[in-house]
Amino acid sequence: MDDPISQLKNGVVLAELGGYGDGPYCAEYGAGAALVMLGTYIVDAGDDAPYSPDFVFKPGRRNYADYLQHHVAAARQSGAAVGVSVVSVDLDDSIDFLVAAEEAGVDYVSLCLHSTMAMFISRGLSSALLRRENWPRLREHLAAVQAATTRPFIAKIGIGDTPDSEQGVDVMADLGVEIVHVNVGDAPSEEGLQAISRLRSCGLFLIIGGGIKTPQEACRVIEAGADAVAVGTAAMQDPGLCGRMQSATRKWAQKLGNG
Ligand SMILES: Cc1cc2nc3c(=O)[nH]c(=O)nc-3n(C[C@H](O)[C@H](O)[C@H](O)COP(=O)(O)O)c2cc1C
Repeated sequence: MDDPISQLKNGVVLAELGGYGDGPYCAEYGAGAALVMLGTYIVDAGDDAPYSPDFVFKPGRRNYADYLQHHVAAARQSGAAVGVSVVSVDLDDSIDFLVAAEEAGVDYVSLCLHSTMAMFISRGLSSALLRRENWPRLREHLAAVQAATTRPFIAKIGIGDTPDSEQGVDVMADLGVEIVHVNVGDAPSEEGLQAISRLRSCGLFLIIGGGIKTPQEACRVIEAGADAVAVGTAAMQDPGLCGRMQSATRKWAQKLGNG
């Protein structure tokens, strides 16, 4: 269990929450998780990204290097591994941001392919990359991030964002992406559990989130085949939730002989 990915096994991920998920937030609400995700951040040259201004940076290392040093260090107070998520219109900006995050000591890097904001969709980016016709470009984006970064890479998607999102995971597997974080909408529901069992065949390390509110629901999602669970909304109201959830999922996995 020494490599970073296996340390996530049967654990809890504090999901990225644009506008909220900065370092101090992760430190408080991610205590007891295996991984806390900072972001998602946007790097953009314009002044009108329809997003929390605290999470938008102008291109150029000098604009975010200090922020990342400070917020990665703050997030580490959670006791969890720290990841950073980004999405930008210009792929080079996202890559530079993730490289700066690595220099700030982050453990995981993530590209957000889950945004449905018009500034990305109108250009065939973020979740639009999961549309079948955009898969060649999806490959380019993933390969470029993987080539430029050294930490384990997480591709974050929403299963309902496009009709092809689920099959897009196979494109990722083909490219050697190691970890995919899938927001399946309502993971503990019958439909969500069925989606997890379909996704299992891709062979990637599967972080599954969406609608998980209690340790019991998290255990059900682990039993259905998730390698780790992600929690966003429910954790926002309860700083102790990640810790309770992770001790439950790890115990449950051991009971299942999957520890
Ligand atoms: C306020 C809010 C902000 C979010 N921001 C992001 C984001 O910036 N990037 C992202 O990939 N997902 C974002 N999400 C999605 C969450 O990370 C998560 O995948 C989703 O909410 C499902 O999990 P939950 O039901 O536990 O909240 C956001 C969700 C909420 C509620």
